[in-house]
Amino acid sequence: MSNDVKGICRHTLVTLAGAACLTLSPSLLAGDAANGEALYHEVEIERTIRGEAYSDANCETCHDPSLYMSEQRKVTTFAKLEAFVEGCNTNLDVGWFPEDVADVASYLNKEYYKFEE
Ligand code: HEC
Repeated sequence: MSNDVKGICRHTLVTLAGAACLTLSPSLLAGDAANGEALYHEVEIERTIRGEAYSDANCETCHDPSLYMSEQRKVTTFAKLEAFVEGCNTNLDVGWFPEDVADVASYLNKEYYKFEE
């Protein structure tokens, strides 16, 4: 019986995913900026930064958002934005999955960088 239920759920999911792919335009399939905003603000990183031990550092402990809009910023395309978010994610052991990284990149893009995705 539980196998039947699983089978039905899987079938429903596949159908829904198929329908979503047909109806959503490519830009809507990009990261979910609202989820990215939540992830970005809720993250707590355990790390020693500038000699101080943090258990709740976040993405703005090292660089505030002015970096994202400064002339010195290194990010010049959406692909690079995703790469930098992934870099900070990996280097700091944040633990975001690739979908999370895509969502955070979308949020930062919507809020600050404003590239074509
Ligand atoms: C321990 C310090 C530190 C923390 C915490 C940190 N970053 Fe960074 N981040 C850096 C440094 C250093 C750079 C610049 C790297 C370089 O110049 O190559 C950077 C660069 C970036 C850039 C590129 C900025 C630009 O346009 O030049 C993005 C985007 C970014 N970080 C996102 C994040 C996100 C998202 C988080 C939270 C998960 C985060 N960072 C947390 C140190 C940090």
